Amino acid sequence: MSEKIHKVPDDFATLAHLRQADYQRLYQESIRDPNGFWARIGRRLDWIQPYTKIKDTSFDEHDFRIRWFYDGKLNVAANCLDRHLLKRGDKTAIIWEGDDPRLSEHISYRQLHERVCQCANALKSLGVGPGDRVTIYLPMIPEAAVAMLACARIGAVHSVVFGGFSADSLAGRIADCGSSVVITADEGLRGGRRIALKENVDEALKASGTQCVKHVLVTRRLGSNVSMQKGRDRWFEDLLQGQSKECPAAAMDAESPLFILYTSGSTGQPKGVLHTSGGYLVFVAMTHELVFDLREDDIFWCTADVGWVTGHSYVLYGPLANGATTVMFEGVPSYPDAGRFWQIVDKHAVTLFYTAPTAIRALMREGEEPVKQWSRRSLRLLGSVGEPINPEAWEWYHRVVGDGRCPVVDTWWQTETGGILISPLPGAIDQKPGSATLPFFGVQPAIVDNEGNMLDGVAEGNLVLIDSWPGQMRTVFGDHARFVETYFRTFPGKYFTGDGAKRDADGYYWITGRVDDVLNVAGHRLGTAEIESALVAHPKVAEAAVVGCPHDVKGQGIYVYVTLNLGETPSEELRTELRNRVRQEIGAIATPDFIQWAPSLPKTRSGKIMRRILRKIAANEHDQLGDISTLADPGVVDSLIRERLNGSD
Ligand code: WTA
Repeated sequence: MSEKIHKVPDDFATLAHLRQADYQRLYQESIRDPNGFWARIGRRLDWIQPYTKIKDTSFDEHDFRIRWFYDGKLNVAANCLDRHLLKRGDKTAIIWEGDDPRLSEHISYRQLHERVCQCANALKSLGVGPGDRVTIYLPMIPEAAVAMLACARIGAVHSVVFGGFSADSLAGRIADCGSSVVITADEGLRGGRRIALKENVDEALKASGTQCVKHVLVTRRLGSNVSMQKGRDRWFEDLLQGQSKECPAAAMDAESPLFILYTSGSTGQPKGVLHTSGGYLVFVAMTHELVFDLREDDIFWCTADVGWVTGHSYVLYGPLANGATTVMFEGVPSYPDAGRFWQIVDKHAVTLFYTAPTAIRALMREGEEPVKQWSRRSLRLLGSVGEPINPEAWEWYHRVVGDGRCPVVDTWWQTETGGILISPLPGAIDQKPGSATLPFFGVQPAIVDNEGNMLDGVAEGNLVLIDSWPGQMRTVFGDHARFVETYFRTFPGKYFTGDGAKRDADGYYWITGRVDDVLNVAGHRLGTAEIESALVAHPKVAEAAVVGCPHDVKGQGIYVYVTLNLGETPSEELRTELRNRVRQEIGAIATPDFIQWAPSLPKTRSGKIMRRILRKIAANEHDQLGDISTLADPGVVDSLIRERLNGSD
């Protein structure tokens, strides 16, 4: 743990929404009287029917429930658009910056409102109504925001699938939630490379289980020549044209589903994390305002793709609920060159900038020159999300990107948590590089040992949350038992995050990373089980085990052990084939970094693979294997180490 402390800058603290004493006072209140606290905060939204009931939650398996603001009614899209029209109709809601640096667009709240209404009417004309699922498979273009908000406006539930996922992954996600409509683009563009989105959709819709899809809407991003299936496929623009620019916002229950977002867990296929309307929007709006210390004239840029939760909460819903200007970037940090982020910061006078450690580390490698070419004068705060940030990257971000004057907020949260749970509030909490610091209002983290005993004071162990917060996921779509089982059974009565953490003498939290079988590769969550199942589907593979290994830029790399069927011989061609198979089944983000041939895998006598040992071998920490006496055949370990040292890859 780095012991360096960065104090809240004086000029920042004076103007900030909250100062140190405010944090302590409000935090205490939020824990002592959650109903009173959230009743007040919830009023920041427009309610069609005001709530009188606030918190009704229990993590006890036999009496399980999570409801917030539960007798209220609201519309999320109206909160993100309509209520700003009077004061902010001409204010820019979205600044879109294209992959090609010459392209950008400003969309005002009024224009966005019109486009969302037209899209909502178009969806209605296809028979989409409240509770129906719509899969959105789009690049980072304004149509993604329009489609998401249009669903919210009519009470449909969107499921955004990241454009980098393969046709197979898309098919699984469409089938799981039974979408009747898919919204996509002809092609996407990232870093100058085209992505065949419509083609992937066509392939996905050939898979079994995707017959639920009745309509495919295709937006023209590149004007490419794609095949359109009669009766099923329509051009998005054609369908929107002629639709009315007014569409009443449906009055939705606070607890009605807003979206499903698939995310990887320790076991099985990705699960559909379900978020609801009222609590989610209150929570993302409040965290967005306070963690980023938002002001009316800020230009907020979160670099995440809308395919991830960070894009949902902090590209779209949080900023728009707050009437802010949000930047949506289609491209990548390295195109056309390593100065792209800072060129965009200058071009749009970005004031608040939020990105992932993997991007910071990749840019750090390019040196200071590409940063210094741009003034970055407009920046006043920097944020980090998605994975632990190492202190060196934190310091570089602070010193080089922020010229030493911008606070850095390291925000810890998850798809499941909806919004930020642990983070500095920039005017109130001193920062320590590498620590996400202290909990947000209403959030009660705790550290437990493997037996579930609560640890006090300075401690290290499993990170849990002992009570609910409004932005919490409500269920796994279609499988409530899996929800309870996954998150509330390991440590009964507590929400288990899957992360490890340390707490220091100041009560600061330091997230150490996943303690389960989830990988975090360049800020993307991947399940080892998904990758393994893609590999064992290959006819030559008998068994596969996937673990994370340290990676300088990506944080974690993907390390694979493969045991071939008897009689098969390892070869470079086979290695390439296996890599391609994973790309094909999941997507390029899941491509293995290393494949090691393993004559056999270390297993306990009951046949369980000992991943702990495989992780150590992958990390070249052969001297720290720990107890291997419970292995069925301890000799396996020596042969794996030998193979590793021979440079199997
Ligand atoms: C990790 C992304 C350390 C963590 C919002 C968590 C972090 C997983 C941080 C969730 C952080 C996220 N410091 N680790 N500031 N932020 N993580 O669901 O392991 O894509 O459990 O949500 O990312 O990833 P997800």
